[in-house]
Amino acid sequence: MSWFSMQREFIVLWGFLIVLNYFLLHSSAENVIMQGQTIKDGDDEPLISKNGEFSFGFFSTNENVQDFRYVGIWYTEKPLPSSVVWVANKEKPSSSGNGVITITNGGNLEVLDGNGASLWSTNLSVSSNMNSSVELNDSGNLIVLRTQNGTTFHRPVWQSFNDTTDTFLPGMRVYVDDQVDEERYFSSWKSSTDPSVGNFSMGIDSHRSPQIVIWEGQRRVWRSGYWTGLVFTGIPTMRADYLYGFKLNNDNERKYFSYTPNSLNKMKFRVAWDGHGEQQSFNEGLKQWEVIQKQPANDCFIHNRCGAFGRCDQSSEPFCSCLDAFEPTDADAWSQGDWSGGCTRRVQLHCEMNSSVNIGIIEQRGGEPDGFLEIDGVKLPDYLEYVGAEDIEGCEKKCLENCSCLAYAYVIGINCMIWTSDLVDLQHFAEGGNSLFVRVAHSELATSNNKRSKRIIIVAVVVGMVALLFLSLSTWLILRKKNKMAATIPSEMKMHNVLPKSDPNSSGGFSTECSVADDLCAEGQAGSGPDLPLYQFNVIAAATGNFCEENKLGHGGFGHVYKGVLPGNQNIAVKRLSRKSTQGVEEFKNEITLIAKLQHRNLVRLLGCCIHGEEKMLIYEYMPNKSLDSFLFDAVKQTQLDWPTRFNIIEGIARGLLYLHRDSRLRIIHRDLKASNILLDEEMTPKISDFGMARIFGGNQNEANTNRVVGTYGYMAPEYAMEGLFSVKSDVYSFGILLLEVISGQRSTSYRSIEHSNLKTFAFDLWDKGKATELTDPSIVSSCNRDEVHRCIHIGMLCIQDLATHRPNMSTIVLMLESENTVALPLPRQPTITSMRRSEDEEDMWHVSREIVSSNNVTVTAIIGR
Ligand SMILES: *[C@@H]1O[C@H](CO)[C@@H](O)[C@H](O)[C@H]1NC(C)=O
Ligand SMILES: *[C@@H]1O[C@H](CO)[C@@H](O)[C@H](O)[C@H]1NC(C)=O
Ligand SMILES: *[C@@H]1O[C@H](CO)[C@@H](O)[C@H](O)[C@H]1NC(C)=O
Ligand SMILES: *[C@@H]1O[C@H](CO)[C@@H](O)[C@H](O)[C@H]1NC(C)=O
Ligand SMILES: *[C@@H]1O[C@H](CO)[C@@H](O)[C@H](O)[C@H]1NC(C)=O
Ligand SMILES: *[C@@H]1O[C@H](CO)[C@@H](O)[C@H](O)[C@H]1NC(C)=O
Ligand SMILES: *[C@@H]1O[C@H](CO)[C@@H](O)[C@H](O)[C@H]1NC(C)=O
Ligand SMILES: *[C@@H]1O[C@H](CO)[C@@H](O)[C@H](O)[C@H]1NC(C)=O
Repeated sequence: MSWFSMQREFIVLWGFLIVLNYFLLHSSAENVIMQGQTIKDGDDEPLISKNGEFSFGFFSTNENVQDFRYVGIWYTEKPLPSSVVWVANKEKPSSSGNGVITITNGGNLEVLDGNGASLWSTNLSVSSNMNSSVELNDSGNLIVLRTQNGTTFHRPVWQSFNDTTDTFLPGMRVYVDDQVDEERYFSSWKSSTDPSVGNFSMGIDSHRSPQIVIWEGQRRVWRSGYWTGLVFTGIPTMRADYLYGFKLNNDNERKYFSYTPNSLNKMKFRVAWDGHGEQQSFNEGLKQWEVIQKQPANDCFIHNRCGAFGRCDQSSEPFCSCLDAFEPTDADAWSQGDWSGGCTRRVQLHCEMNSSVNIGIIEQRGGEPDGFLEIDGVKLPDYLEYVGAEDIEGCEKKCLENCSCLAYAYVIGINCMIWTSDLVDLQHFAEGGNSLFVRVAHSELATSNNKRSKRIIIVAVVVGMVALLFLSLSTWLILRKKNKMAATIPSEMKMHNVLPKSDPNSSGGFSTECSVADDLCAEGQAGSGPDLPLYQFNVIAAATGNFCEENKLGHGGFGHVYKGVLPGNQNIAVKRLSRKSTQGVEEFKNEITLIAKLQHRNLVRLLGCCIHGEEKMLIYEYMPNKSLDSFLFDAVKQTQLDWPTRFNIIEGIARGLLYLHRDSRLRIIHRDLKASNILLDEEMTPKISDFGMARIFGGNQNEANTNRVVGTYGYMAPEYAMEGLFSVKSDVYSFGILLLEVISGQRSTSYRSIEHSNLKTFAFDLWDKGKATELTDPSIVSSCNRDEVHRCIHIGMLCIQDLATHRPNMSTIVLMLESENTVALPLPRQPTITSMRRSEDEEDMWHVSREIVSSNNVTVTAIIGR
């Protein structure tokens, strides 16, 4: 009885919430103004985008001074002025209560002052038989559309995203034009409350390889370093694209940068009035914007801090030094901290001497050719002159052949880079950075080689002595014990010690997080805070209609999954874990909290958990489009996936997996990547599900392995299927199979023909015959780009090579997918029937499983029942 009445209460509450929601969303807010309508300062409400996030109307930059009124767009959840993202009449504010926003005859959006004089206008060409409407869209873009006799034309004629001020928003496009070296898109405010154009601007330097630059007038203040396809070389904290979500897109021959936030937080970038480039994230708790990254981050990031051929290192004192083989141009100034003069060569280059026709000296020195000094961990210099497809040896050769070449570098994603002017804006990074090869005279090379060989000698001597000591010690042991077995002890000891040893360092980081998580989890209720909420069992039961059959979405290896609707109309998916884990409730909660922190647009979001006695449930966001396999292998639905959609799916899975492997704090190996574990949202964005299951089952991993090999035949790498060895490279294998399935629309296991037992051998066979693209699903042939498909098949082939070491890692794969033709692909090796592991491989595996052990606190993970 009480159960039913409770359910009824829920339904009533629910209905109320829905109605309330409706009114909140639809009562006041409009997101469109039509011809003839106006927004009068003081009288009318601002426009509000449909999702409520952005507002457009009049505002003041200073709550206390209402004399200057600006028209612009801001995040509805103030505070001002930090939430302002765009300003129209930045040079000409209106005075209090007088201004009007209107659409003039002829269809221009204008801001007028009290006397009807124009303060700002969209300046569209006037057309007497056209009207306009103005819409604020969900991305914060103000769009002017043309209308005629009540019909609206959907191609915008003007948009605020093309009339940028100081802020870069997700969804904006920053065009990169190879023909134009510098393009400035953003300009700073004059002061924190004055939006008129200030001293700083931000934009793109597209010369050879694009970089983001901040200027003060003509002078460069900061640059991001070159875009590699994944990261900017000059931002060492940019481990990969996940936090930053930058992408260089190619849209009908126009290239542009875009940004997609991977977390749910609101995020924006701007060039601040004091010249800093800031990345800001909205703190929902404090209701304010926080700067999460600021550039220049310190003195050394300021452009060319140490002059030509100088190098800035924040950790040394003083932080400027000359490159090896260079000395200060003006020693006095340098010692007094004026580094602007930079450094000059100690010994002239052979090349330079030849050109100055001083033949005598060359002969004196024996005419030895110049060489290169390698400088590690640097921000590569500015003013890159040449980019080419040469490999690293070819790059060195190219540089050596041309006297004007002063340095070269080789970076995956850009390939060969050559500088011919003074090397400026070099910085040494404590972590990360690239290697630069600087041309120096042969004699300089000799001195630094000497230094190195001396070091080698010292090391050799020390190693030799240690070896001698060890040898005599073990001889002594052997003699004393008179037992051959004793000789094997040291190596055994080593094996056992290696594994647990790495524990303290790497799990140390987690333990502090766990203690924080404990509190949150213990206190948590549904919807409390950004951390892990614990849901009440009765809430979940009500949401899923008491786990009724109708709401069942399916079942995976870990239990049944139900659809549920929480009060407030939030759809969820509930995974009822069938298998028991030996972990305690606290450990379980800790794991869940850690996994819930993994947030990426290509991962299904874990919203929380529910614990009811013995039973544990995971609450996920609900994906209306179900899983990839339900489309891909369905004769009717597969036609909905055209090639561009499939390519986006492939790319998304790759990015999600890269995040799990490399960028998340936990380093998760999925172990069961397959089409049914890829869910699709409304926009067909792929989301990987079921990751981190090994962690959730924690201590029980051994049992899990013997009961049932985690993984699915057809997707499992040979070394995993046969020997239970898993690593990031076994996930790469599964990704490769998945890739071939997406292209062919065939299940890897059920593919059968007379000659081929599975999709993999079929694909290799076609590849061998040079007919790889015949693998393509007939239903996408019309929409596909043959080069792209071929490239994807090639990448798939590389992923499913027998030896784990031959397979690329996920960051290389993402690069290969995204940088068309700039990354040369190696040839895949044919599969063999029996896949034997080789010793080179073994090392790799041990290495990986050690990492798992260290972050998992599980002693045996690598070996499962044979
Ligand atoms: C419109 O034209 C005026 C005068 O030429 C100019 O000052 C203003 O910046 C223009 N507005 C836009 C949005 O381009
Ligand atoms: C907003 O407008 C831009 C430009 O027209 C468009 O690309 C984007 O998809 C729109 N965003 C939304 C949420 O409608
Ligand atoms: C433009 O808008 C005005 C006022 O709403 C209306 O009278 C007129 O018919 C419209 N003209 C066109 C071409 O739609
Ligand atoms: C719009 O209305 C005007 C006046 O009623 C008419 O002359 C014109 O042909 C109409 N235009 C279209 C495209 O229907
Ligand atoms: C915005 O600018 C881009 C690039 O110049 C152009 O292709 C696009 O048509 C513009 N959109 C609008 C609505 O003006
Ligand atoms: C901008 O430049 C002017 C003139 O050089 C200077 O007076 C002012 O202080 C600068 N403002 C900022 C914020 O640097
Ligand atoms: C030096 O000069 C001679 C003749 O002027 C030329 O043949 C030779 O190639 C030059 N060597 C280098 C390394 O540039
Ligand atoms: C050497 O490099 C410069 C700068 O890139 C280029 O202008 C010149 O043609 C090159 N010379 C040769 C011989 O390749």
